[in-house]
Amino acid sequence: MKRILLGLIGIALLIPQVKADEGMWIPMLLKKYNIEQMQEMGFKLTAEDIYSVNEACLKDAVVIFGRGCTGELISDQGLMITNHHCGYGQIQYHSTVDNDYLTNGFWAMSKEEELVNPDLTVTFLKRMEDVTEQVLEGVTDEMNNDAQSRQIQKNIIAIKKEAVKDTHYKAVLKPFFNGNQYFLFINEVFKDVRLVGAPPSAIGKFGGDTDNWMWPRHTGDFSVFRIYGDKDNQPAEYSKDNVPYRPKKHFSVSMKGVEEGDFTMVFGYPGSTYEYVPSYHLKMLTETVNPKLIDVRTEKLNILNRHQAADPKVRIQYAAKNARISNSWKRWIGENRGLVILDAINKKQQYENQFTQWAMANEVRAEKYGNLLSEYEELYEKYTPYRLAKDYIQEVVYRNGIEIISMASKLKRLASPYHLADQTGTEVNMKIVEKQRTKVKADAELFFKNYYKPIDKELCVKLLQMYQNDIPDQFKIDIENLNKKFKGDVAKYVDYLFKKSICDDEAEVMSFIDSFSEKSLKRLEKDPANQLFNSIMRVYSKKVLQMEQHLKEQLDQLNKTYMAAQMEFESDKVFYPDANFTLRVAYGKVAGYTARDAVEYEYYTTLDGIIEKDNPDIYDYRVPQKLKDLYAQKDYGRYEVDGTVPVCFIATNHTTGGNSGSPVLNADGHLIGVNFDRAWEGVMSDLMFNPDQCRNITLDIRYVLFLIDKFAGAGYLLDEMTIVE
Ligand code: ARG
Ligand code: ASP
Repeated sequence: MKRILLGLIGIALLIPQVKADEGMWIPMLLKKYNIEQMQEMGFKLTAEDIYSVNEACLKDAVVIFGRGCTGELISDQGLMITNHHCGYGQIQYHSTVDNDYLTNGFWAMSKEEELVNPDLTVTFLKRMEDVTEQVLEGVTDEMNNDAQSRQIQKNIIAIKKEAVKDTHYKAVLKPFFNGNQYFLFINEVFKDVRLVGAPPSAIGKFGGDTDNWMWPRHTGDFSVFRIYGDKDNQPAEYSKDNVPYRPKKHFSVSMKGVEEGDFTMVFGYPGSTYEYVPSYHLKMLTETVNPKLIDVRTEKLNILNRHQAADPKVRIQYAAKNARISNSWKRWIGENRGLVILDAINKKQQYENQFTQWAMANEVRAEKYGNLLSEYEELYEKYTPYRLAKDYIQEVVYRNGIEIISMASKLKRLASPYHLADQTGTEVNMKIVEKQRTKVKADAELFFKNYYKPIDKELCVKLLQMYQNDIPDQFKIDIENLNKKFKGDVAKYVDYLFKKSICDDEAEVMSFIDSFSEKSLKRLEKDPANQLFNSIMRVYSKKVLQMEQHLKEQLDQLNKTYMAAQMEFESDKVFYPDANFTLRVAYGKVAGYTARDAVEYEYYTTLDGIIEKDNPDIYDYRVPQKLKDLYAQKDYGRYEVDGTVPVCFIATNHTTGGNSGSPVLNADGHLIGVNFDRAWEGVMSDLMFNPDQCRNITLDIRYVLFLIDKFAGAGYLLDEMTIVE
């Protein structure tokens, strides 16, 4: 009834309904759907100020940082800011026990002192374009699904090729609305990106994994980089002759701060969301997949935490790995909790009932959509065990799983030119052999820099045991030797594995790589780590992936239809596409929230709160002495507000993983903070948004300036910025 009423009102006013707060919008389309609402909420700029093809605009100051974060330009000399947790790998890469930038922080006091980062890139969006028509050219209703997707793939390749012909740009083409629309993105990738500074982890990661995904928060989660180009301001590989990149646009930094109710906008790269899935998807995640993955990671973390607490070197070696494991582990727990509290499955089911009623009320629709939900039900029933097995094997092998296996898989690459020659009856290409040797060697060096065998051995025992216990018989791994030699005793088998394999020993691995020749193939085949990898892969590729992908394709097909159907069903509503790591605008307002019965949260935190949390006995809450001194002397300079320094604030912007490091802008389009997290009660927002409790967490830019200036003594960086007081 309520829906029908709302629907009527929508039709009566004849304006599309855009929800406030919820949504990650396409920058190119703001003019059509959002800008009026944004302006009503206080925004003072125009849609062209945010996104324009021809004029310099805000989008020119936003980048993809590395592979999974966002960053933004804050000076005309290529200075860029992102999160500490986004630059973590780089900070760790430059850290040693003697020169521990993770612990002590790092600040270049001049451009010469900035640190070079192999393999780090930043990516600018030059322009985007709706290419749905071109992508669907030649695709007809008469074609079956396979033929359709072949035609689509063919078109995509051609469009991308044509779009960047004779340029150094890169083309990315992605489906939106589950394949009902397609957009092309023309990107420019810079490869010389240097570390300028990072606070100590006791600031940049203050609160650690204890406070992660939580509010109230006091984390100074930022790091600073500089983008370099060649003399012509073009992307180039690292060279000492490169010069700071001169961007088309950089953000002005506002010291004005925020108050409750103020307009805020987040402009970045949200990774993935699943807002339009059926209830069966939520059931699969909350009842099967999330609980199992949570268990696996709980065990991983137990092992890592124990060893890291015992040895400072191991603490550094496994810092990034631990953070990665812990982050999704905690999010899954919060996601499950949030969905239960929201009664999300029930809500989806009610919606589905209404949807089905609507579909059945009309013959054409009944034909098209009448069976959708029962098809979903059947498919999810089949799909769930495969999805679980796939995720589980990824946990065992790829996502910070058994490390000795990943070493074996690296060594395998040495053999591939020989296998290829064998298969094709040609000569072995020695050029490729040498190329692989160099590459594998570099990978192995990085691997052993952060490798601690006792952790790996324990992980190996635990993960193999859990997998064999948790997973249905059809996916069991038949491990060579385990049953024959060791009567199924995993611990004994793992002892043997680590004794016999070369993959856990740096010296042996290096000499194996150096001397690798045709004769080494046999030895590699026989290495038990390689054998273990092969046994797992046999199950993974033959028994899990093939079927998983097959079912996933069927799901994708249903998703495409269901998406279009939902848009038809709620024709008065403006839909935003699920996140797909393309540039989006989220907007909302600064707001506290009610966390649970009798618990109200303020919208901001301060330096006083950091001192309140200070506790030398708890690793995550040790406040650096220098910060305590600044606090004791109240040496806050121009960053002082009401006798303290603001640290973080929350707002109702709809964000997700990938939005980390995103610029948070005020009504003038000035930078007021750097997005880095979401609050615990709202982390289910990837699946269902609740405006009452979903909050993004922003690092207040005034705390950043205070730290750079007063704490790090790198105030020269502020001179480059355009600061609005
Ligand atoms: N939860 C934030 C995000 O998903 C921050 C993660 C990094 N911090 C951590 N303690 N692991 O990326
Ligand atoms: N912390 C996340 C990120 O790294 C942001 C989020 O999930 O809210 O992108």
